[in-house]
Amino acid sequence: MSPFLITRTLPEEATDAALRADVLRGLTRTPKTLPPKWFYDAHGSELFEKINDLAEYYPPRAERELLIAHSADIAAATGARTLIELGSGSSEKTRHLLDAMPHLHTYVPVDVSESALTQAGHTLVEQRPGLNVHALIADFTTGLALPGTPGPRLFAFLGSTIGNLLPRERATFLSSIQSLLSPGDALLLGIDLVKDEQALIAAYDDATGVTAAFNKNVLSVINRALNADFDLDAFQHVVRWNAANERIEMRLRARTNQTVKIPAIGLTVDFAAGEELRTEVSAKFREPVLRRELALRGLELTRWWTAGPLYGIALARPSAPPTAAQLDTSRRLWAHDRSS
Ligand code: SAH
Ligand code: AVI
Repeated sequence: MSPFLITRTLPEEATDAALRADVLRGLTRTPKTLPPKWFYDAHGSELFEKINDLAEYYPPRAERELLIAHSADIAAATGARTLIELGSGSSEKTRHLLDAMPHLHTYVPVDVSESALTQAGHTLVEQRPGLNVHALIADFTTGLALPGTPGPRLFAFLGSTIGNLLPRERATFLSSIQSLLSPGDALLLGIDLVKDEQALIAAYDDATGVTAAFNKNVLSVINRALNADFDLDAFQHVVRWNAANERIEMRLRARTNQTVKIPAIGLTVDFAAGEELRTEVSAKFREPVLRRELALRGLELTRWWTAGPLYGIALARPSAPPTAAQLDTSRRLWAHDRSS
């Protein structure tokens, strides 16, 4: 195989249809919502890289510190020959893992952002001659068609991107990854932890406004793809800590009464002054809650490393299927979280 392959497993028409469906569903419900995956066109991916450099946004520094300290352990514990990374973005922190895996055969970065995959792929093959990089343009929530590569395989989901999934989406996602794991395969998760509310709010509402621009970028994506007429200045970036569900929520608040036209889907949407559109949730975890959530999906948390109280990295393996009692707990948890 050539050292860098990029495969689109999601046809462009399917991406376009998914955006139309999400915008129609999200903007005609109350309260209005949009899924966060639409932030990441080329500009959104660049803005996310800038977020990673913000003083207030601690997760990448904490995760990097953990990867530097524990990649050798992770490599030894998994013996991985294939590394599959979901939501890989720039793959920048992943290099610490790659450095610790000299016998890795193939790296499979998976992302919806073609620009991020292309840039990361070219950099990686230059820096690591001999490593096969097979990038997939794919949505990790809709079933993955993975290339045939040697095992054991390590699936990595870093950056705490798992927190951007709603509880039901998380459950479905974890079950689908579990079903992809063969004996000997493992899942590595970057996990942001519950902490002081002020630090959390600052991380998502930085002084320079980069996160505000990232949040509003979803409106630019809809303007361009669906010929809509969102006025970005007519919305304000809002960040809230949802204590009941232990998650940050990013929203866009309409500054005035306004009507937005989205001709590509024949939709006209009214916003009342002060109305908020939720664009992202970013759940924060506690170790016992994560352990239980994994167990409910047939995954056992086998190793857990933390950077003080800020951030953790979890290694999980397939376990026995959940018991009837565990499934009952799961149903009750869902019933509790009505906002999912
Ligand atoms: N793992 C990287 C990037 C995190 S940003 C890091 O830790 O820095 C989240 C990444 O996930 C973005 O690159 C975004 O394009 C991608 N992403 C978001 N939703 C996705 C989905 N449903 N399927 C595939 N990729 C997705
Ligand atoms: C990608 N994801 C884990 C980021 C987060 O922290 O939830 C996205 C982000 N949103 C605002 N800042 C960063």
